[in-house]
Amino acid sequence: MEKILDLIAKEVKAAFDAAGYDQELGRVTVSNRPDLCEYQCNGAMAGAKKYKKAPLMIAEDVAAQLKDSRVFSHVEAAAPGFLNLKVTEAFLTGYVSKMSGSEKFGVALPEHKKTIIIDYGGPNVAKPLHVGHLRSAIIGESVKRIARYMGHRVIGDIHLGDWGLQMGLIITELKERQPQLVYFDENYKGEYPQEAPFTIAELEEIYPTASSRSKTDEAYKEKAMEATYRLQSGVRGYRALWQHIIAVSVADLKKNYERLHVEFDLWKGESDVHDRIPGMVAYLKEQGYAHESDGALVVDVKEETDTKEIPPCMILKSDGASLYNTTDLATIMERMEEQKPDEIIYVVDKRQELYFEQVFRCARKTKLAGAETKLRFLGFGTMNGKDGRPFKTREGGVMRLETLIGDINEGMYQRIRAGENTEVSEEEVRRTAEQVALAAVKYGDLSNQASKDYIFDVEKFSSSEGDTGPYILYTLVRIKSILRKYEQQGGDLATVSLREAGNASEKELMMELAGFQAMIESAYEELAPHKICAYLYNLANAFNRVYHSTMILTEADEEKKAGLIALLMLTKDMLETCIDLLGFSAPEWM
Ligand code: ARG
Repeated sequence: MEKILDLIAKEVKAAFDAAGYDQELGRVTVSNRPDLCEYQCNGAMAGAKKYKKAPLMIAEDVAAQLKDSRVFSHVEAAAPGFLNLKVTEAFLTGYVSKMSGSEKFGVALPEHKKTIIIDYGGPNVAKPLHVGHLRSAIIGESVKRIARYMGHRVIGDIHLGDWGLQMGLIITELKERQPQLVYFDENYKGEYPQEAPFTIAELEEIYPTASSRSKTDEAYKEKAMEATYRLQSGVRGYRALWQHIIAVSVADLKKNYERLHVEFDLWKGESDVHDRIPGMVAYLKEQGYAHESDGALVVDVKEETDTKEIPPCMILKSDGASLYNTTDLATIMERMEEQKPDEIIYVVDKRQELYFEQVFRCARKTKLAGAETKLRFLGFGTMNGKDGRPFKTREGGVMRLETLIGDINEGMYQRIRAGENTEVSEEEVRRTAEQVALAAVKYGDLSNQASKDYIFDVEKFSSSEGDTGPYILYTLVRIKSILRKYEQQGGDLATVSLREAGNASEKELMMELAGFQAMIESAYEELAPHKICAYLYNLANAFNRVYHSTMILTEADEEKKAGLIALLMLTKDMLETCIDLLGFSAPEWM
């Protein structure tokens, strides 16, 4: 379906043309003076110079052409040269009805279906999932859903951090504690046990212990580096132990992400491309892209136009070990081979921006990435506590994601329990609390532009008033309840259809609905879930104005009532679609 703004512009462009002006001047936007008009065109001002005419005169000429338009109920040329426009009820209702009867509200399938890989989540195996990883999961999941909604083939890949020094640290610590384990017996030739020699709780204690010891104990750190090297070079017992670490950790990660309604298509990690590294290094050397520098192997990536220093991309360290870069480059190679993506989008902390600049340049220069493949970095800011510093536990430690979500769920549960709904089962209260808590957290995050730092304020996010997830859910639940009552009164939701707006607030709601397509296109192009949040907030407000100004269930005129119900149903579908794109859902009651 064409966007409503394009339809309106078409009409205005034809009028510019008919009045003897360049039709390109007929561009239209939503009005920034809703007290004066609904849409506006500023083209007369832009044309004044070319036609050596006062803008107001041009605007008047165009307005004269639009006098009998079926699209506009009101056209006015206003000083210094604006065209103020209001659309007819018939035009608007026709448009919104067509949206309501179309798949995805009329959003067309793309001409070229792209393959898009979204690299998000990025947790590190064996380290507890902490709030830093929350943003990547929430934003990435939303971006994935939006791109998929737009009709593309989208693959979400978690890209586990499963190959670095943390593995060597864990193995070293385990060896200190339990040297008798069969994994450390170099002469052992048999099968290794199925069962891991640790639980997730132990694993999560082992890593921080090992990590802090390595910071003061040089010999211990050496051992960990040695263990990492031995693991990467394929020592059987180390590989088997590493498999256990991955399995135990991934089971726990899956549980956590499931609670967050975050779903990955691929659970690949840095280790998956290990075997590709030697081939890649050989290629980079043969083609003359890589050269030695202080014993290390690097690719220069600086460009003449750089205003700041972009250091070379290091491929191998002087001891021959691979780095974070190396696995990222090899992963690009693998993705090109396996998925041939048109785009790869990395949803990562914005502090890694320079790093990704190096990797992208290197992948381009060395042709590891296809010439047509777009590499995009979606960097997000820090989640801060109310004190404006990075979010911590009350004791000042790293906040585990599980603890955070658990606390928020509990708070929400208490709030709902304290409410008037006493006949609801315990289980349902729990379920509802989880849904509302998830909405609070996700909306709180996504409503900020991703690149900005933001303050994680549970109180504010959980409020049922203002620009929050719970407010959106309350609005949805309110609509659901009206629709249920309508059915109880004997109304049939299957037969209602939209009617022209009966008052100004209904018309405003229709105009909000009509703006969906333009909004979703820009949210997709700019990778900007916050645009969906802003849209949801406006839509919820527009509905609530209708709710407070209009009799719905008590309306005596049955046809009018059915028209309102149809408007509510469309609003509900739209709200539900949008919250699904953000990655949460609404309960039946609150
Ligand atoms: N594991 C990394 C971290 O915790 C994030 C991974 C991001 N993705 C990537 N392809 N490098 O910082």
